[in-house]
Amino acid sequence: MTDIKTVAQDILWIGASDRRIERFENIFPLTDGVSYNSYLVKDEKTVLFDTCDVAVSEQFWQNLTEALDDGKLDYLVVLHMEPDHCSQIASVVSRYPELTVVGNAKTFTMLNQFFPETAAVKRQEVKEGDVLSAGSHSFRFLMAPMVHWPEAMFAWDESTGTLFTADAFGTFGALEGGIFADEYDFEKKYLDEARRYYANIVGKYGMQVQAVLKKAAGLEIRTICPLHGPVWRKDVRWFIDKYDKWSRYEPEDDGIVVIYGSLYGHTASAAAYLSSALVEKGGPGRPVRLFDVSKTHASYLVGEIWKSGTVVLCSPTYNNGIYLPMHALIHDLKALGLKNRKFALVENGTWAPASGKLMREELSSLQGCQIIEETLTIKSALHAPDKDRVDAFAAAVLA
Ligand code: FEO
Repeated sequence: MTDIKTVAQDILWIGASDRRIERFENIFPLTDGVSYNSYLVKDEKTVLFDTCDVAVSEQFWQNLTEALDDGKLDYLVVLHMEPDHCSQIASVVSRYPELTVVGNAKTFTMLNQFFPETAAVKRQEVKEGDVLSAGSHSFRFLMAPMVHWPEAMFAWDESTGTLFTADAFGTFGALEGGIFADEYDFEKKYLDEARRYYANIVGKYGMQVQAVLKKAAGLEIRTICPLHGPVWRKDVRWFIDKYDKWSRYEPEDDGIVVIYGSLYGHTASAAAYLSSALVEKGGPGRPVRLFDVSKTHASYLVGEIWKSGTVVLCSPTYNNGIYLPMHALIHDLKALGLKNRKFALVENGTWAPASGKLMREELSSLQGCQIIEETLTIKSALHAPDKDRVDAFAAAVLA
């Protein structure tokens, strides 16, 4: 059964959602699936913007063939060559051998690597500012290198104010009938997943996101068409502002995310007491969010850290080092180039607590991050006489 929606004049959404997928990139857990958006422009020329993941190819082909209505396909524009969008390129070229594939120099290098069988297809190489005319719609290309692959680019249709943004402005989460963000309570349903998608997939490349946002700043954008998640046609500025903040590594609120590792519950108990003290002293302006690093997948923790101004890490000492899941999280934060956060550290050790010092060393390379001087040290477990020093530590976290 086909599922085709009109995005703007002559622009159709012909994408599909995968609700069975367990992990995006075989890493990130998905509880509500993901959509792969593909767009078809029907003008004097027909233009397909990107294909889809192989998992939804059957739906994609039904949509594409019905939307073309036995007509020919003139152009396939490739904004992004990652396989969740490019899997059907060779099949599209095989079915419409007269079409022209449009991409930049890096696109074609990757096309040759993934699909050498497309070597004979007509190719049109574009650079920054080049325009592809389809008739009444003309698409201007804006290069978006390393958002989050080197060949990524945007396409701008001035006649409808539509910006095709590849992975940028995408989100985890399948579509559930509507394709527009305003057909959902986006903040409730998608915002956390949009942030998790951004932080984990694109987060390392904030500088490159800032560069392309600057290019797009002068455009009168009415519609944003990403490759994942809802299309934006209302409150476009609100979501652009979120992207601006995330890519500047600025927290969204004054919240405190407390993340602990715990073998037997003693560090968990300390983290819970500390959280209680933070809530009591910080009040409603300083929301506290408490997580077990062994239980919550690191991608959710990264999303929470992207949101919050302050991060408290509580780790047992393990083999004279940092508790392994906590060490993995810190490695992730360093790989993503997190900036501009306040950290506080809690260590536990029954005979030689060392995880505080080691976490401090690891985190010291993060730019713009402050690690408060006090480390809360626990020898095995907290007890009633420790209350005052934990309360003093909470005050230092909040200061
Ligand atoms: Fe959705 Fe970078 O692929």
